[in-house]
Amino acid sequence: MNIDYNVSIKGYNTFGIDEIAEQFVVLQATNELRALSEIEERKIIGSGSNILCTQSISALLIANRLKGIEQIKEDEHHVWFEVASGELWHDFVEYAIDKGLAGIENLALIPGTVGAAPIQNIGAYGVEVKNTIESVTFWHWKSKVFKTLANEDCHFGYRDSIFKNELKDTFFITSVCFKLNKQAVLNTSYGAIEEELQQLNIMHPSPKDVAQAVMNIRRSKLPNPAEVGNAGSFFKNPTIPVQQYLDLKKEFASIPAYPIDEQSVKVPAGWLIEQCGWKGFRKDDYGVHEKQALVLVNYGDATGEEIWQLSSDIVASVQEVFGIELEREVQVW
Ligand code: EPU
Repeated sequence: MNIDYNVSIKGYNTFGIDEIAEQFVVLQATNELRALSEIEERKIIGSGSNILCTQSISALLIANRLKGIEQIKEDEHHVWFEVASGELWHDFVEYAIDKGLAGIENLALIPGTVGAAPIQNIGAYGVEVKNTIESVTFWHWKSKVFKTLANEDCHFGYRDSIFKNELKDTFFITSVCFKLNKQAVLNTSYGAIEEELQQLNIMHPSPKDVAQAVMNIRRSKLPNPAEVGNAGSFFKNPTIPVQQYLDLKKEFASIPAYPIDEQSVKVPAGWLIEQCGWKGFRKDDYGVHEKQALVLVNYGDATGEEIWQLSSDIVASVQEVFGIELEREVQVW
């Protein structure tokens, strides 16, 4: 294990931001974690798809390259896999689909690694990863031992978990155990999936078909980080009280909302941002994606500071027009 100094992270984050990591190490085996436990401050990067870096990194930056997918159990209805945290999420989705297993097909093509998936409970098209996670195993820096948390102890919420809150900065996720289904219980209720399956002329979809529909939709809306720097949704969809929604509806008749519970609804941040006129905005090399206003983009040489400033301007204008405070979904360093 080699520590390198003053390494550019441009190739290590999908926003393509060019900042320096003062100390940098690539982790390939879990037995290397003990030695890194002595270091005062660490940051971890998987595939760097949910990070906006606005300054040079003085902490030791650890690039996670732990690999391996192992089937650990099987019964009549399910198969369990222990997956190393450095595996790319979509590679695991493809692996599962090739085996005819169901449960994560709606999450096809989400950027990022398996280890990052539980941290923000990745979700798309009506499915969240928490539905298939059995447990999460991590190295605890302070006590220098591996620990395993069962699903119910991970406190999963919308783009949220214990790893973003109580346990923040105390762990390195090494593997995640998934429980996948042999019999497909598909979730195609999310409008765009039904339409896409019809377009593809598929009446009785398999998990593979659903994944294909999801991939088509994502490719049509979301920019490919290999072409335009971005980190997917930059903001979370805000939850507001029903009364606030009804008041807004008097002024903005077409405001969309999805019910959460009796008291609250979720409003698509992309809609709010578009209404404020930001969709397709571009200045120099930074801007707002033209097909999905929730995605901020780097066309080449934007700095993290510029994207941060743009996000602050968007937060201010959504606050001014709708009285709603947007929360960032990406991790800002
Ligand atoms: N909308 C607009 N203008 C826009 C974008 C969206 O008006 O520019 C409105 C439309 O009314 C649309 C609604 O927002 O019907 C919802 O849009 P979309 O289906 O694209 O989903 P989203 O709420 O913007 C969320 C997730 C995505 C996920 C999709 C599909 C969050 C923060 N984002 O986006 O996740 O792929 O649903 O399930 O929850 C990510 O987290 O990085 C991500 C891409």
